[in-house]
Amino acid sequence: MSQYGKITCTGSYLPAKQVTNDELSKFMDTSDEWIRSRTGIQSRHVVTDENTSDLCTKAAQNILKKSGYTGDSLDFIIVATITPDYQMPSVACQVQAGIKADNAFAFDISAACSGFVYGLSLGEKMIRSGYKRGIVLGGETLSKVLDWKDRSSAVLFGDGAGGVLLEADESPHFLAEKLQSDGTRGGSLTSGFRENKSPFYDESTEETAWLKMNGRAIFDFTMSDVAKNIRQVLDENSVQADYFLLHQANVRIIDKLARKLKIPREKFLTNMDKYGNTSGASIPILLDEAVTNGTLKLDSTQNVVLTGFGGGLTWGTLLLTL
Ligand code: ACO
Repeated sequence: MSQYGKITCTGSYLPAKQVTNDELSKFMDTSDEWIRSRTGIQSRHVVTDENTSDLCTKAAQNILKKSGYTGDSLDFIIVATITPDYQMPSVACQVQAGIKADNAFAFDISAACSGFVYGLSLGEKMIRSGYKRGIVLGGETLSKVLDWKDRSSAVLFGDGAGGVLLEADESPHFLAEKLQSDGTRGGSLTSGFRENKSPFYDESTEETAWLKMNGRAIFDFTMSDVAKNIRQVLDENSVQADYFLLHQANVRIIDKLARKLKIPREKFLTNMDKYGNTSGASIPILLDEAVTNGTLKLDSTQNVVLTGFGGGLTWGTLLLTL
């Protein structure tokens, strides 16, 4: 008998420390008015003594607590992150150890702000191939890759983690998807460059490990490629979406995409005012918030669009019945 993936539980974790725009303006030449009007962000959470694996482990524990399962019931753990603690072990393996998911295989994927959407697509295919239960997480500590002297990028981001439990179900819930990438435009958003310090390496470089962004190029990319991607998924499927959960980069991007797509703005959920841009974590944190406050129900009655977009460049949309 065929089986399909269904999201049966959500969870998230935000580090305790919140930093308002006013606090940033104490050590950076910026203002609450500038950040709020350009981005919709008012505050963000940042880690003081935790790393990405801690945030993801706590989000996974939150999911297990709510769902009543123990870690050993999981077949897989996928973590989307661009800010792992280490290159190896993966954050997913650290989560596995933290929640005692002895029977799971675990790995990270790197697709920046599209990472959770890519990971969820992959996780659902794992369930279709026979696995029964897994967790897909997005988690980031972007505060450690920000150049805190660069006001044009440092004000935008925050730390956090969120995720979902995927379980086998007899009917399809993932109705359509379109995942895309364009490596030729990768230079418009970069972070984490690692210098080769080998004694045999003699090239010098201007590259830096700090996050660097061409804000205008990213804005234009969302208005062209991301808008087209969402439109294509909607047009190819005769399903009305009740809600749109887009990567929480910037409220102006979402306002403009809603206008461009001619979709009522109230169908687009947002929470970047409280959390900033948490990259791969933004969609699962938003999803968990909407399930927790009752806007979304995991009872197979609502259709939602999840769209990630970001570094790579990567972008992609999933249309699913929750
Ligand atoms: N505070 C005050 N002034 C600032 C700040 C700040 N934090 N940052 C930049 N400025 C100044 C600039 O120095 C510039 O001053 P100048 O005109 O004297 O040179 C002026 O504000 C305008 O700067 P721009 O970069 O042109 O600002 P813009 O209005 O384009 O807004 C923004 C910047 C919000 C990043 C915009 O380009 C944007 O929305 N881009 C989309 C990209 C995005 O949201 N990225 C998020 C991460 S990527 C992702 O998640 C996919």
